[in-house]
Parts: sequence; structure tokens; C-alpha cells
Amino acid sequence: MSVYLTEYLYKMNKKITKICCIGAGYVGGPTMAVIAQKCPEIQVTVVDINEKRIAAWNDKDLNKLPVYEPGLDKVVEEARGRNLFFSTEVDRAIDEAEMIFISVNTPTKTYGKGKGMAADLKYIELCARQIARVAKDDKIVVEKSTLPVRTAQALKSILHNTGSTNGGVKFEILSNPEFLAEGTAIQDLHAPDRVLIGGESAEAIEALVAVYAHWVPKENILTTNLWSSELSKLTANAFLAQRVSSINALSELCEKTGADVNEVARAIGTDSRIGPKFLKASVGFGGSCFQKDILNLVYIAKSYGLHEVADYWEQVILMNDHQKRRFADNIVTTLYNTVSGKKIAFFGWAFKKDTNDTRESAAIYVADYLLNEQAEIVVYDPKVTEEQIYADLDYLNTRSEEENRRLVTVVNDPYQAADNAHAIAVLTEWDEFKTYDWDKIYNDMLRPSFVFDGRAVLDSEKLEGKGFEVYTIGVGAKGV
Ligand code: UDX
Ligand code: UDX
Repeated sequence: MSVYLTEYLYKMNKKITKICCIGAGYVGGPTMAVIAQKCPEIQVTVVDINEKRIAAWNDKDLNKLPVYEPGLDKVVEEARGRNLFFSTEVDRAIDEAEMIFISVNTPTKTYGKGKGMAADLKYIELCARQIARVAKDDKIVVEKSTLPVRTAQALKSILHNTGSTNGGVKFEILSNPEFLAEGTAIQDLHAPDRVLIGGESAEAIEALVAVYAHWVPKENILTTNLWSSELSKLTANAFLAQRVSSINALSELCEKTGADVNEVARAIGTDSRIGPKFLKASVGFGGSCFQKDILNLVYIAKSYGLHEVADYWEQVILMNDHQKRRFADNIVTTLYNTVSGKKIAFFGWAFKKDTNDTRESAAIYVADYLLNEQAEIVVYDPKVTEEQIYADLDYLNTRSEEENRRLVTVVNDPYQAADNAHAIAVLTEWDEFKTYDWDKIYNDMLRPSFVFDGRAVLDSEKLEGKGFEVYTIGVGAKGV
């Protein structure tokens, strides 16, 4: 599109004055809070069917927001009640808004066709039907959730077919995937590498560009067709996850050969073609997106008969599963082939630092493996609640709820977790772990005192100097 045409359309545009976002989760909440902060003249209403969640977003005590993100409390404090609102009145917010973001969850299907692989789009469809039912005037509908490529086609069909009864209401669909990472959400939203907007209508695209242009330089706002935008999100997550699996694959080889994966990462990361980011070996990636999106990509590839493409990407998941399993297995082997009745302290449960999110966290699977070996686990995480930890374990259905509560204890104090433990396993890279009084921890542990650092965050030499036996992911034992 020429610059002149863009400018013309921009001027012609009816400015967006009211935005609604369906889904007040990890994506919808922070994203809308920042849009409201940066666009004080736009009324932003975030709606959700979950009353408890909305109440938490409205809580006077900013420590009670349902999502923990550094800096989020400040943003909410600035905008809430001014032009940022959280509500359960979904119909009303849809009716009032000119632009509606859909940010509901799209979990992996747990039933029927595509079970265990395809994204479950039932919530997306429900949203589309609700918008179609309620809308009395033209709406721009924005896909914020990560969706399989060509979902916009289904949305379009539902909106146009069920919405036509509303007397010629026009719906434009845009894809505007969110690239924020949890833990750095506010930073990522304030200064995104890029904003991606895919769509068919230049006018609708420009209306959304105008929202982001309040704070994002125009050259960082990319516009594409709908399908490129939808597929780019899946591709970005697949590439990121692939990098983690690649370095994790090498971490095992490093351990066998005496190489240090952190040194290897530094050596290759200085090559400007490779770059230094996302090369941190770990106990395995987690989070709500990577596994779900790759499975989805694999499913889509298979559905087009592209089996080699599907197999290629599936390997990223298989490698990740292997990494979690081998970390747990190493604990058992090192503790003289049995952890039965042994106390193992988990430092960290969240899938990464600076978040209270535990979805697909490696900690869950490592715990499950060790519980099958009859270990007793004591968990300390600075942000994750006891309720969440039990819910994560119960969800696996591996053993009874009573059994999970008998074998797993959750404490608020890391020293209590380590007291009388045979081993400490570091599952999340929380900064505070580095500053603990490790002499005290050593004194209170059983001998030998093992530390399994699944995030390579602790100073192993220092700990070994104190008497600990330390295993660090991706670092070969001395004298290998
Ligand atoms: C996001 C994206 O939307 C998803 O596509 C991406 O792949 C993962 O991240 P997220 O914000 O993390 O999801 O999900 P979640 O925290 O579960 O929030 C979704 C919210 O939508 C929930 O609060 C849920 O109650 C709400 N919801 C769901 C509705 O309000 N209506 C529905 O019909 C379904
Ligand atoms: C990811 C994408 O980064 C983001 O763009 C997208 O919108 C959502 O999915 P998120 O899942 O929040 O974000 O966190 P991310 O920082 O990508 O980490 C994902 C997982 O990979 C975490 O478990 C993390 O610990 C792990 N990881 C990441 C590594 O093990 N090593 C690394 O070098 C980087």
C-alpha cells in the first residue's frame, strides 16, 4: 500500500474510541492494561466469564492481581478506573466497542479428532457467536489468541452467517498475535520488537495500527495478509522452542564429554548469524505456548499430508520430554538408584522466573517421575501457591489426590524446604536462589548433600567448596 493511501485511509478512519477484550488471562490482561495506559482517550474493557478472575483484577490490593508480572501493578494503578475496566458483562462490552479482541485460551484438544495435538477452538467459536448475536453495528474483530492458520476463515463464516440477522452488520477480522513473554510482559509490550497485524481490509488494519502507533514506532508495525500473520505466530514459537531443544540436546553431549554447554552457547552465540539469546540449557521448556503451538503446527502439517514437515517439528517436543525425564532419572541414579522415602527439595515450580504461571512447567513432570519412585517432595516457589501446585499434580491423574498431598509438601521458606533433605533440585531460575545462605542450607541437609541445578544458575564451584555434591545441567563432571 502506498504511503499516500495509508495516510488517506488513516485520516478517513473512524477513530477507535472503545475496545473490548474477551479473556482476562495472561495475555488479555497485561496487553489491554498497556493499551489503556498508552491510549488514555480509548476506553478499554476487559471481560471474562470467570468472576473470581475479574474480581481479582478489580482488587484494591494490587498484590492480588491474578497475573504476576513485574511492573503490571503500576500500569493497572495508572489506568484502572480511568479508561481501563474489568467486567463480567460480556454482552455490554461487545455492544459498546468498535474493536473486539479475542484473547481466550486455545488449549490442546483432549478429546475427539486431533486429540492431544490440535488446538481446541471451542472458546473462540463461542466468542464469535456471542459477538455475532450482540453486535448491532460494524465491528473489527481481532484475533489475539494464538490460532491455527486459517482460523480467521472460520471466524468470518460464523460472524457473517450468524450475524447477518442483525441487519447487515459488517465484521472485519484482523490477526494480531501477541509475542510477549511472561515475566517480561510489560517490557515487551512497552517496547515490542515488532507488532504484527494481518488482515484483508486496509481500513481495519489502519484502525489497529493507529492504536499501537500511540507508542510503537510505525516502522515496527508490520502488516501482512491474514494467513501470514496467523502462521508467523506459530512459526515464531516453533523456532524459539527449537532453539531450546537444540541447546538441550547438546547439553547431554556436553555432560558426557566434559564440555560446558554455557561455554558452547557463548561461543556460538557470538556468531551474529546465530545470536546470543535463547541458548540457555535447561531442564526443559514449559509454558502455555511452546508445546501447544508445535503440536498444533505438527497437526496442521499432517492434515496437509506433509509428514516430513510434521516429523521434523515433532522432534522438538520429543527432545524436550527426554530432557525432563533424564533430569529426573539422573536424580534417582545419583541418589544410589533409589529415592524412595527420601526428601527432595524443589526450588521453583513456575515454568520460568518472574511469573506465577506453572502451565507445562518442567517441575510438574520431574515431580511426577520422582513421586512414581516414591520420593517425598517439598516445594518452595516464591510466587506459586500451594493450591496451584496440587492442582498441577492432580491434573496428571497419575495418583490419587490424597497420595499427592501425602507425598508433596509446599512451604513458604526455602530453608525449611532444604532442612533434612537428601537433595535440592533447582527447577526455576529465580534470582533469589543465588543469594541464599548456602552454608546454613548445607548444615541442615543430610550427607552427602546433593544439588541438581536444572537451570545452571548456582555457582557450582562455590557450592562444592562448601561440601555440596553439585550436578549442573549441561556441565560434564570433572575428569570425564
Ligand atoms: C493466551 C492466548 O489467548 C492463547 O491463545 C495463547 O496460546 C496462550 O496465551 P492466556 O491469556 O495465557 O491465553 O490464557 P488464560 O490465562 O487461560 O486466559 C484466558 C481467559 O479467557 C480465562 O480467564 C478464561 O476465563 C477466559 N475465557 C475463556 C472467557 O472469558 N470466555 C470463554 O469463552 C473462554
Ligand atoms: C513464549 C514466547 O517467547 C512468546 O513470544 C510467546 O508470545 C509466548 O511463548 P513464554 O512461554 O512466556 O513466551 O516464555 P519464554 O521466555 O519464551 O520461555 C519459554 C520456556 O523456555 C520457559 O520454560 C523457559 O525457561 C525456557 N527457555 C527459554 C529455556 O529453557 N532456555 C532459553 O534459553 C529460553
